[in-house]
Amino acid sequence: MQIDHRLVTMLQRAQSVTVLTGAGVSAESGIPTFRDAQTGMWATFNPEELASPDGFRRNPRLVWEWYAWRRELVQQAQPNPGHVALVEMERRVRNFTLITQNVDGLHQRAGSQKVIELHGNIGRVTCSSEGVEVETWDTSTDELPPRCPHCGSYLRPDVVWFGEMLPRHALQAAWDAAEQCDLFLSVGTSGVVEPAASLPRVARQSGADVLVVNLDVATNLQPPLYTIHARSGEWLPALVQAAWH
Ligand code: OAD
Repeated sequence: MQIDHRLVTMLQRAQSVTVLTGAGVSAESGIPTFRDAQTGMWATFNPEELASPDGFRRNPRLVWEWYAWRRELVQQAQPNPGHVALVEMERRVRNFTLITQNVDGLHQRAGSQKVIELHGNIGRVTCSSEGVEVETWDTSTDELPPRCPHCGSYLRPDVVWFGEMLPRHALQAAWDAAEQCDLFLSVGTSGVVEPAASLPRVARQSGADVLVVNLDVATNLQPPLYTIHARSGEWLPALVQAAWH
């Protein structure tokens, strides 16, 4: 795959690079995105029912089981060449920040050291009333969701649901990284979910070059300097190859 040499030079010269990823980066690992018309998760499932505090109150078992199914999907998936390319980028760039909206942990499994998780991680479980992480619980009963061993409330996945706040430290760190970088890459996200969707604009307003890499023509991200229509699992490795090999 041919990469525009201006983009390669931009990456080579950048002192500080921030990358924001979305579900598109994991699509080539076989994990469905959310908003792709035919294959996206929200084409088949109702987010109000499955990814909201109200949905959990109404039907906690359904929500728990849906996340258990997704957790399994994620465990069976492998990082793809796009994830791997970002590991090398982290090694090569002096100040590198990877921000992800994905909850699948595939960046870490590929080898990325520092990952800001804006929407949590499906592999972790917390107490639905105290918010603390819980690692073990009673599996001898059939009750789902399981109960918190400390207070008896239902356990839930450590992910951000619609209407919930993002983890404060993660959001602050993401904001700082967008403000401080000189090159910002948004990869595989439709850019419709705030506040992550604002990060490219924050970077642009702070003077960074902004590249948007997406399979779709239509993303909500404004105003990108460069829009690249490509699969992240092909484009990111080609970029890294062109910059450093
Ligand atoms: P979306 O499903 O909204 O967008 C994924 C984007 O990736 C789409 O624009 C696709 O065209 C693009 N895409 C698909 N395959 C690709 C590939 N191989 N290479 C590059 N791009 C590709 O997912 P997100 O933007 O991540 O939130 O969604 C944001 C949030 O909405 C998610 O974190 C989730 C969801 O509701 C929570 O669960 C809180």
